[in-house]
Amino acid sequence: MVSSREMAKEFLRTHDLVFASRPQLLGGKIIFYNCSDIVLSPYGDHWRQMRKICVMELLNPKLIRSFSSIRNDEIHRLLTHVRSSLGTPVNLSQRISLFMSSLICRSALGRVFTGREELIELVDEMSALLGGFEFADVFPSLKFLHGLCGNKSKFLEVYHKTDAIIENIIKQHEKNLESGNKGSGELGADDIINVLIKLERKGGLQLPITHDIIKAIILDIFAGGTETSSTTVVWAMSEMMKHPRVFAKAQAEVREAFKGKEKLEEGDIEQLEYLKLVVKETLRCHPPLPLLVPRECREETIVYGCTIPQKARVLINVWAIGRDPQYWKDPESFIPERFDNNNNNNSIDFMGNHFEFLPFGAGRRICPGLAFGFANTLFPLAHLLYNFDWKLPAGVTVETLDMSERPGMAVAKKNELFLIPTPPVSSC
Ligand code: HEM
Repeated sequence: MVSSREMAKEFLRTHDLVFASRPQLLGGKIIFYNCSDIVLSPYGDHWRQMRKICVMELLNPKLIRSFSSIRNDEIHRLLTHVRSSLGTPVNLSQRISLFMSSLICRSALGRVFTGREELIELVDEMSALLGGFEFADVFPSLKFLHGLCGNKSKFLEVYHKTDAIIENIIKQHEKNLESGNKGSGELGADDIINVLIKLERKGGLQLPITHDIIKAIILDIFAGGTETSSTTVVWAMSEMMKHPRVFAKAQAEVREAFKGKEKLEEGDIEQLEYLKLVVKETLRCHPPLPLLVPRECREETIVYGCTIPQKARVLINVWAIGRDPQYWKDPESFIPERFDNNNNNNSIDFMGNHFEFLPFGAGRRICPGLAFGFANTLFPLAHLLYNFDWKLPAGVTVETLDMSERPGMAVAKKNELFLIPTPPVSSC
């Protein structure tokens, strides 16, 4: 377990190549097609090829921009729901989660397909299962434990159900492509599954893409892209409610920037400097993956005089590093300004160069979806601040608002966040 900035740098920069692999865990083997996805894949040619495809083809800015109509459509749904609930408590955790999973679902799999709700529920279930403790993973050499493990049958159940739904979606897409339709993406554009099928058909890759690999990548994008971003939005709203000064400043910035506008353009949202600081501070205090994703040592290595054996599992405790008073002044306080360029921590970013702040990891396995994830977080926050004022429900105060955490694939708020929306007083 790595819990200091200096050691994190040793593992993720100096010896990055040695620690660029992942342990093969039981859940990953069953649900992610023998770890043939990107997140859980061991270091090697397959991972390198799939990561390159992910960065160049799936998360390329042009494709992401083409999803803007989906983002606008989904935000419209979220705002319509909130508007219909003015003056009464809204379960924001639930609504944000629905917003994020619909957004990722439509971007990855297209507009309409059967089994959408079931798939979203299955991914939720999968997340809870994978975030849990697995006894067999602690003793990987004792194979008999795998059979005895309570979770194995649950993993298999989730696997069979998700496999059937995604296989069906792939078939629908293939049929569409064969009949000359451009696919079920928005306005006829490609969704992520279409891009993958086209790559599979085109061939010419060092390692061929199979249906199983396509399914594993789709699950990655779902699992990696939904809960991480939605928990960040919920934590940011919770922290702002707990810190009315921050809330007022962020809201004033959004309202000033969009004064009189009916629609918030994505490009303009990127200019919201203070809101970005709020999200960064949220990621410092509540990194969705507080131990990143486990790394595995590829060969015996000495780090700081300590021998790390081959296959040792390494966890980077970015939660502890992000709250260490050696690197952060007043670390338990929520102060977005600490990330302000003009302050002492000059331009600390999350690109894996500042080892005291690693919400997206660092090195070869750094999150390839970081820009997409960050933008997906800013987008709903800007809309929620612009369109409504917010109050805590009766009986809850700034002091008593619960901030405890619950484990899962991403660490979320233990109790869902309920807030009361009211029409905006000061603008619009
Ligand atoms: C706030 C949002 C997000 C956070 C905090 C986050 C965080 C992380 C972290 C900590 C890792 C492990 C890095 C390491 O081991 O050093 C990771 C890996 C990954 N993330 Fe994200 N992520 C987010 C959003 C996304 C999105 C939107 C996508 C894709 C649509 C995505 C796809 C991935 C993938 C494919 C990997 C595996 C990379 C590899 O092993 O090579 N993430 N993410």
